[in-house]
Amino acid sequence: MHSGKSEGASQANPAELARSVRQALGARSIVMIGLMGAGKTSIGKRLAARLDMPFSDADQEIEKAAGKTINEIFSENGEAYFRDGERRVIARLLRDGPKVLATGGGAFMNTETRARIAASSFSIWLRADIDTLMARVSRRDNRPLLKADNPRAVMEKLIADRYPIYALADLTIDSRDVPHDVMVEEIVRTLHVNEKLILPPISEAL
Ligand code: S3P
Repeated sequence: MHSGKSEGASQANPAELARSVRQALGARSIVMIGLMGAGKTSIGKRLAARLDMPFSDADQEIEKAAGKTINEIFSENGEAYFRDGERRVIARLLRDGPKVLATGGGAFMNTETRARIAASSFSIWLRADIDTLMARVSRRDNRPLLKADNPRAVMEKLIADRYPIYALADLTIDSRDVPHDVMVEEIVRTLHVNEKLILPPISEAL
């Protein structure tokens, strides 16, 4: 009698799984959070395709709005200016209908953004260890915070400062060096059995 959601998840076909997760989300978005190199954009993009939802990347939208790269914004306008743009762009993207949204690593540290995500979305923290993060970020030169003498020490400090806040996310998934599709399948199955996702948001329940 009590077939339970987990049994349902193991039996459901991929399209049914996606449909039931989308239905449970209702008007909510999925917001990917985590440090630089955690895989928010690459996994978020594939998760959106898997769930047949639109995808947005907050950093790309900030670059589009500013007409400059993140590196240029940091060097020409400073970090505070970037953070203000980040807060406004994420607010706009979250107003604009359900989607999978990849945010930059600092976005969830902003109290206002965090509250907005909690009210409108289901948040997923892609947690990764320092070696995984450093191996991934070293492939590109697009992170102004890591243009330092000792980028590993910077990353260690970000882990210490941010992980307790990231832990407030609705769901934590360990980001590992496995094919992206494996991560996506793990996320979809976990979402399917996740109680907070299954329960309707308070505003809909009233
Ligand atoms: C930042 C992360 C970056 C980008 C900016 C600042 C951060 O995004 O927003 O360089 O504070 O962690 P990614 O996490 O997508 O690299």
